[in-house]
Amino acid sequence: MQYGHFDDDRREYVITRPDTPLPWLNYLGTEDHFGIISNTAGGCSFYRDARLRRLTRYRHNNAPLDLGGRYLYLRDDLDGDYWSPSWQPTRSSLDGYECRHGLSYTSISSERRGVRAEMLCFVPLGESLEVWRLRVRNGRGERADLSLFSSVEFCLWDAMDDATNFQRNYSVGEVEVVDGVIYHKSEYRERRDHFAYFACSEPLAGFDTQRDVFLGSGRGWDSPLAVERGQSFDSIAYGWAPIGSHHVRLLLAPLETRDIIFVLGYSENPAEAKFDPSGSQTINKAPVRPVIERWLRAEQVEKAFVALSKTWEELLSVLQVETPDADTNRMVNTWNPYQCMATFNLSRSVSFFESGIGRGMGFRDSSQDLFGSVAMVPARARQRILDLAATQLPSGGAYHQYQPLTKRGNNEIGSGFNDDPLWLVLAASAYLKETGDLTLLDELIPYDNCPGTETPLSEHLERCVRYTLDRLGPHGLPLIGHADWNDCLNLNCFSETSGESFQTTQNREGGVAESLFIAPQFVLACKELAGIVRLRGESDMASSLEAEADQMVAAIEEHGWDGEWFLRAYDFFGVPVGSRSNEEGQIFAEPQGMCVMAGVGISDGKAAGALESVRDRLATEHGVVLVQPPYTRYHIELGEITSYPPGYKENGSVFCHVNPWIMIAETILGNGQAAFDYYKRTNPSARAPISDVHRCEPYVYAQTIAGPDAPTCGEARNSWLTGSASWHLTAISQWILGVRPELDGLRIDPVLPSSWRGFTARRRWRGATYEIVVHQEEGATGRVRRLLVDGTSVEGNLVRPVPAGSTVKVEATLERG
Ligand code: GLC
Ligand code: GLC
Repeated sequence: MQYGHFDDDRREYVITRPDTPLPWLNYLGTEDHFGIISNTAGGCSFYRDARLRRLTRYRHNNAPLDLGGRYLYLRDDLDGDYWSPSWQPTRSSLDGYECRHGLSYTSISSERRGVRAEMLCFVPLGESLEVWRLRVRNGRGERADLSLFSSVEFCLWDAMDDATNFQRNYSVGEVEVVDGVIYHKSEYRERRDHFAYFACSEPLAGFDTQRDVFLGSGRGWDSPLAVERGQSFDSIAYGWAPIGSHHVRLLLAPLETRDIIFVLGYSENPAEAKFDPSGSQTINKAPVRPVIERWLRAEQVEKAFVALSKTWEELLSVLQVETPDADTNRMVNTWNPYQCMATFNLSRSVSFFESGIGRGMGFRDSSQDLFGSVAMVPARARQRILDLAATQLPSGGAYHQYQPLTKRGNNEIGSGFNDDPLWLVLAASAYLKETGDLTLLDELIPYDNCPGTETPLSEHLERCVRYTLDRLGPHGLPLIGHADWNDCLNLNCFSETSGESFQTTQNREGGVAESLFIAPQFVLACKELAGIVRLRGESDMASSLEAEADQMVAAIEEHGWDGEWFLRAYDFFGVPVGSRSNEEGQIFAEPQGMCVMAGVGISDGKAAGALESVRDRLATEHGVVLVQPPYTRYHIELGEITSYPPGYKENGSVFCHVNPWIMIAETILGNGQAAFDYYKRTNPSARAPISDVHRCEPYVYAQTIAGPDAPTCGEARNSWLTGSASWHLTAISQWILGVRPELDGLRIDPVLPSSWRGFTARRRWRGATYEIVVHQEEGATGRVRRLLVDGTSVEGNLVRPVPAGSTVKVEATLERG
């Protein structure tokens, strides 16, 4: 069963019934102010940091799942019938319901008894507020006497504290209501210099700010007493749970349409100008008043909405393709880069699966997220690299996460995930390939944000590599630390205590656990860095990096090959992990992908053998699973991976993040058919027809899809904020379609499925536009053999950069052998 369809022209996903298997989310905001919004208007709003500057409450893991939102109620004042135009929270029956999730906006529309309502929500560019425009149309033959109630539940700023510290929270809530605007000012009397406001374009018939007065005793959001009786209470919150609710009376003539605008915003005042009059406890509203006034105007909202769409068109124009496959086109042209921007902006902070209180910006996560967004937002990507580097430790190691608001490394989670630093090299390399901006390397950046410790970024990158070399084990392979990319492979943890964190618990000392993920990742990073420093004329440095890489390749070949595939690790005691000598967990996907990507085993058949083993042992109709056979019991020496039931998460689900590595590896060996076949298995759009099984949104990637060992095989979990987004975009655009930025040119290296006769692409790169046409002759094998650049034949498959502003026509042909 399907719950909707794509509207490709409008770049929207249209949900046609409200009872989707899970709330299907969208994100509002692209800069500093963000929100999540479900197809039934659930969600929350925050400024910059989902934990520290949360505007509204959202109850994760509730029943129903997404409780808390942008809830509106319409009431027929003649007979008292009331409903939510977004279905939740009243769930009244609707005549027609449609939710359109678009690029940073959502519009939900429905009709009941002749009254049509359409709610459009978005965050205007450059503002720290969200706008809701409700368009109500009376389709009846007679006048409609309606009441409209809005509602948001304010969060007392720190979402963690808000959800736990009730002994304080129930007493600190404060509001002001002035000129129909509801101001949330909890803690403003003391150290906070920020407040939230909720305004409405219409004159009010009343308002409420105390949740339990609005709802009434013992009631929930599905039947607020104020709505039921048709009149707000004008309540003022003194502690408890401050909310914002406006009551508007709407008298609509037959066929009349009216727009009502709500604005929910965030504002800061300088410490010395917090109060007006000064010395009072009243918020100084002078700076925010004109903002509110401006955004309650319909023309302003319309203009901002158009500007938002334009910005997205501009961002997406970096790459647009036309291939024979509709699922590929819509993911590459719209949804995949869109998801990449969400991960770039929000890392793993807040989704339906992420509470917004537990995690900051992950060092490895944000580094990888950058791959999918650097082409769209190079300047922001550059800043991100510098922010990440500023949290690096002098040892070259990295805090695993930092808080976006403070940009400081997160002490609670600490360091010691030994893959982390190498991702920074790959991120910097992606930026340089995209932009050619070598000045990045000269930026002076501190370590651990300590003033006085600045070195050029180039030295940060060298320390990243050095960090691995300083931590080699007995086989000459990198020591794993707490974990490598696979957070749940905890080879030094040996946890026996329930509830203890597998990832941050003190490691047991004295082990020799080595990672065959970090080993090829190191090779890759050294090769990338060698290319970069050579460009700067440092050829000795380049050669020494290449020599280190060669030595690591030798160690992998000698100690990392299990006979038919690459090993995953050596454990604390030096016993192989991911080997046929193991009873469970004999083969892992990550090293097969990474080793081939790093070029290991290409010439001697190991690479081909590894991928054949993936095909035989790990590939399923839903994608490539992470490990087989999965662990059926807890292995103390392996850690969290063995804590999950078989088929879920790291223990044998289709871990989507890893799948693109296998696709890329297949293209490196020239297997376009296999690469694309894998690509289609995890493609969300291609999975839309099985939404009942897949359950997550059909327009974005999820972290996992339950594997064949799970009772719910095929079911996706943890959608939206996942590294799957940027890696899938990398795999399809740079390796399968093969339009790949490199330091000295744009590589045109498609490796296509055999049935394709070609495709076209338009790529904006370093300010110029490349109009690319690829032909594939029937029965073609291998890579591009003929390349015309503006009609002139060129050796090889590299298109040299041209001056910004120019347009280049590129024609590439894959010929019959
Ligand atoms: C999660 C983490 C990521 C990790 C992956 C595998 O997606 O955010 O950092 O690499 O799981 O464990
Ligand atoms: C949990 C998740 C894993 C994630 C890790 C990082 O262990 O299962 O996927 O990478 O947390 O916080």
